[in-house]
Amino acid sequence: MAVAHARAFRIVLRIGYLLLAAALTWLFVAGIDYYSLPLDQRPHHPDFRSLRPAGTVGHGLGIVGSLQILLLLLYSLRKRWHRLAGLGHVGRWLDAHIFLGVSGPLLVTLHTSFKVQGLVAVSYWSMMAVAFSGVFGRYLYLQLPRNVLGEAMTLEQIQAQLAETDRRLREQHGLDQRIMTALETVTTAGGSLWRLPLNNMLLGMRLRSHLPAGASPGVLGDAKARVLLGRRILFHNRIRELFHYWHVIHKPFAFLMLIIMVIHVGVTVALGYRWVF
Ligand code: HEM
Ligand code: HEM
Repeated sequence: MAVAHARAFRIVLRIGYLLLAAALTWLFVAGIDYYSLPLDQRPHHPDFRSLRPAGTVGHGLGIVGSLQILLLLLYSLRKRWHRLAGLGHVGRWLDAHIFLGVSGPLLVTLHTSFKVQGLVAVSYWSMMAVAFSGVFGRYLYLQLPRNVLGEAMTLEQIQAQLAETDRRLREQHGLDQRIMTALETVTTAGGSLWRLPLNNMLLGMRLRSHLPAGASPGVLGDAKARVLLGRRILFHNRIRELFHYWHVIHKPFAFLMLIIMVIHVGVTVALGYRWVF
């Protein structure tokens, strides 16, 4: 049941990304003529009334994008408020957080009509900094193995998982000591933390040359898991530390963005901008 839910969620998320890509491409292509004009010539363009930040489309994009950004903050609530624990796996909440964190800033970018100035520019660039830094945060997040509840495992728990994978490789897949030593060598040859993503990507290719031809099915998957776990143990403290500093930077920018966004909305409402209402 849980597997079916996870699959359904992944499909919905993929459809979401496809629809987002289609909508953004359409909006961008339809507006490129307007967006590429110098600011002083824009008021004479036929799309000015709809695509400027206060226009029907432009203003709507700002509202929808900002609502998405507010919605993604529910992830923090899900992490901390245990009453929400029954509402889906925390990993899926993070996937939704990322979807909204990609979609919201892109819609807000179209809302600005690529004219970023004044105090709200601080909000805009903080938003972009948060969203871009999210990619790095996601990478670090994935380097910290998690239990079924999505909580980061302790070093001891990861070591126990590694020992269990080693046992499977020896007993179920029948790997001898020579191959186990080769796996250990591949593990420690992961390079620096910065070269790790590339080395992890090429792992399948490297391992195939060490595994015996005609080995039992699933051996490559287990061998990969073994090396990745080993590398995560090697870099565990460094990754935890970096992730901690990443949080320290990510959060204040998110709050700065939100505070100025609230001021910006307050000012526009006070100036009489009400969108279609
Ligand atoms: C993070 C969210 C947002 C950012 C970064 C942002 C950014 C901007 C920027 C850069 C401009 C152009 C400023 C200029 O013309 O000098 C603008 C204009 C505007 N924004 Fe936003 N915006 C956001 C959310 C919103 C929301 C939620 C609303 C409405 C509820 C809104 C309503 C407007 C309006 C009405 C204008 C036109 C103001 C005018 O022409 O004087 N914005 N916004
Ligand atoms: C405007 C966009 C975004 C905002 C305002 C935002 C805000 C936040 C906040 C406040 C947190 C702290 C959550 C907590 O620990 O309570 C967080 C965590 C996180 N965000 Fe974002 N984020 C945005 C976009 C993104 C994007 C685009 C990505 C990935 C590409 C991303 C990835 C992450 C990750 C990996 C975490 C850490 C999760 C954890 O430690 O449990 N974020 N974000």
